[in-house]
Amino acid sequence: MRYGKFDDKRKEYVITRPDTPLPWINYLGCEAYFGIISNTAGGYSFYKDARLRRITRYRYNNAPFDMGGRYIYLRDAASGEFWSPSWMPTRHAAERYSCRHGMGYTTIGSTYNGIEGRTRYFVPMGENLEIWQLTVTNRRKKPAKLSVFSSIEFCLWDAWDDQTNFQRNFSTGQVEVEDGVIYHKTEYRERRDHFAYFACSEKLAGFDTQRDAFLGAYRGWDNPAVVESGRSANSIAHGWAPIGSHQVKISLTPGESKQIVFILGYQENPKDQKFLPADSQTVNKQNAKTVIAKYRDLQNVEAAFRALGQYWEETLSVLQVDTPDLHTNRMVNIWNAYQCMATFNMSRSASFYESGVGRGLGFRDSNQDLLGFVQMVPSRARERILDLAATQLKSGGAFHQYQPLTKRGNNDVGSGFNDDPLWLILGVNTYIKETGDASILNEKVPYENEPGSEKPLYDHLQRSLQYTLDRLGPHKLPLIGRADWNDCLNLNCFSDTPGQSFQTTTNKEGKTAESVFIGGLFVLAANELADLAETFDRRGDTKRYRWEAERMKETVRKHGWDGEWFVRAYDDFGRKVGSKECKEGQIFIESQGMCVMAGIGLKDGMAQKALESVKTRLATRHGIVLNQPAFTRYYIEYGEISSYPPGYKENAGIFCHNNPWIIIAETMAGNGDQALDYYLRINPSAREGIGEVHRCEPYVYPQMIAGRDAPTHGEAKNSWLTGTAAWNFYAITQFILGIRPTLKGLRIAPVIPSRWTGFTAVRKYRGVTYRITVKRSGKGNSVSLTVDGKAAPGDVLPLPAPGTDEVAVEATIN
Ligand code: BGC
Ligand code: NOJ
Repeated sequence: MRYGKFDDKRKEYVITRPDTPLPWINYLGCEAYFGIISNTAGGYSFYKDARLRRITRYRYNNAPFDMGGRYIYLRDAASGEFWSPSWMPTRHAAERYSCRHGMGYTTIGSTYNGIEGRTRYFVPMGENLEIWQLTVTNRRKKPAKLSVFSSIEFCLWDAWDDQTNFQRNFSTGQVEVEDGVIYHKTEYRERRDHFAYFACSEKLAGFDTQRDAFLGAYRGWDNPAVVESGRSANSIAHGWAPIGSHQVKISLTPGESKQIVFILGYQENPKDQKFLPADSQTVNKQNAKTVIAKYRDLQNVEAAFRALGQYWEETLSVLQVDTPDLHTNRMVNIWNAYQCMATFNMSRSASFYESGVGRGLGFRDSNQDLLGFVQMVPSRARERILDLAATQLKSGGAFHQYQPLTKRGNNDVGSGFNDDPLWLILGVNTYIKETGDASILNEKVPYENEPGSEKPLYDHLQRSLQYTLDRLGPHKLPLIGRADWNDCLNLNCFSDTPGQSFQTTTNKEGKTAESVFIGGLFVLAANELADLAETFDRRGDTKRYRWEAERMKETVRKHGWDGEWFVRAYDDFGRKVGSKECKEGQIFIESQGMCVMAGIGLKDGMAQKALESVKTRLATRHGIVLNQPAFTRYYIEYGEISSYPPGYKENAGIFCHNNPWIIIAETMAGNGDQALDYYLRINPSAREGIGEVHRCEPYVYPQMIAGRDAPTHGEAKNSWLTGTAAWNFYAITQFILGIRPTLKGLRIAPVIPSRWTGFTAVRKYRGVTYRITVKRSGKGNSVSLTVDGKAAPGDVLPLPAPGTDEVAVEATIN
């Protein structure tokens, strides 16, 4: 069942009924001002940090699930009837409802009793504000007199404090209203130098800033007293819950349309210019007024919308493909790339499943996200890498997370996830492969953000590798620490206290439990560092790191092989995890994917055997589950993984993040058919037709799809902010389509399904546009290239002469 359709031409997903199984959301903003918006206008906004600079309030896990947002009400003066064109919160049975989620904007609207209301929401590039561009059209045969009400609820900035500290917060709210603009200035009188504003392009009939006055006692957003009565109360908030609402009266002749613009923004003032007059307590509104005036003018709004469109055209133009598969095309060209930008901007902080108050930017997450976005925003990728590296510990270890606003490591969670530092090597290498900019290796970056501790980034990478070597266990495999990639395999936790955090509790010293997964990751990272060293003339290091990689490979082959698949780990008692010796959790996906990606066992059949085991034991029609058999009870020695009921999350859920590891592994083993088959099982567009099972958005990846042990097998959860976005993008574009940046240049090494006759692609790479045509002429995967009509050796494109803008590439697969 479908709840909408793709409009690929406009790069939109069009939702055609409002009651989607879950809120289907989009992100507004791509620089500093951000918002989440659902298909019924739910959601909230923030500046840079979803916790510390929350502009509007949102209550998660509500009933209904999604309540509170950017609501507009229309009221018919003649009948007194009122409704929301976005369906929520009044839920009138509107006609012609649609929500178009596009690149950085969302348009929601419907028609009720012959009045059409449609709002386009977006954040102009370069601005710290969002625009709501409302068009009301009278489709009746008679004139109509209407009132338009806007509404938002301000958050008192710190979203965590806002939801918890009511003894203070009910008394701190403050606003000012001037020229019809509502200024939210809670805590501005003390240490804040920022305020929010909510403005309207039209002359107002009234306004409200106090929630109780607007809603009325015991009422909700579905039935505000002010809207019902048709008259704003002109309330001024003193404490309690400040809101923003404008009332505009309009009259429309039959067929007539009117546009109204609302502007919600964030403004900082220099500390010494907070007030005007300087000795008053009145907010200095000079800067805000300039920008408000700009966007009260519809022409500027239209120009800003066009500029946003150009930004996305440009951003996505880095890679465009035309393959025989529609789902591949639309995900690669539009939605998967777009989702990668969302994970870049948000990491795991703000979605409908991440509250924005808990997690900052994950160290391993952000490094992996690079795989998906580096080609679109290379200079911001560079900055991200340097920020991440600056939080690295002197030991080579890493803070598990850092806060985007302060760029400091998060002490609450701390460190000790022993895979973390290795991802930095992969992240940096990804950046250099894309850009060729090796200068980043010489950038001086501090440890633990401590001035004076600066060392070249290359030194950070060396310490990352050394961190693993300093922490080897009884089998000389890497010690797992708190956890590796699988946050829930907590082999040193031994938690028996209800509510204790599996993420931060370690009750064992951690000298025994080892991770085969980190072993594989180490081999991959050590070889990548060796590549870097080789390319940049540090040959001594190359030798050493290759040697370490080989040694670890041997260790994995010896102690990490179970006969038909790779072992997952050793627990605190030195017993195998993920082995046929175990009662439950005999096989795990992570070590199969990572070890094969690291090249372990490709020559001696181990890799093929492992992949065969994945196919027979872990693959389902909805994707590949994480482990089997699922854990049916709590194992204190395994931790959180066994806390989940079978089939969910890390306990035998289809954890989409590591499905592409198997996809990549399949291409490395030469199996293009199997690779694409796995790819399409979790490709959201390919699952659009089973919307009632899948339930999440069909245009972005979820983190998890319930596994076969779950009663809801096939049901997706935790959409948007997941490493799945980057890894799938990487797997389809660089391994199946095989357009792969390397340190030496762009490699063309497709491993496509046998039924495909070929595909074309346009890839912008290091300043050159490559027009690539791939044709299949034989059944295998070997590639021969012609470049601008001339045969070229190997499968890496030679660097073109300086000044070259375009290169035509033909790749023949035999
Ligand atoms: C989840 C993991 C997540 C971790 C981080 C766990 O409960 O299952 O997927 O990474 O929490 O807080
Ligand atoms: C989500 C986390 O963000 C990621 O870092 C982790 O690898 C996966 N969960 C698996 O536990």
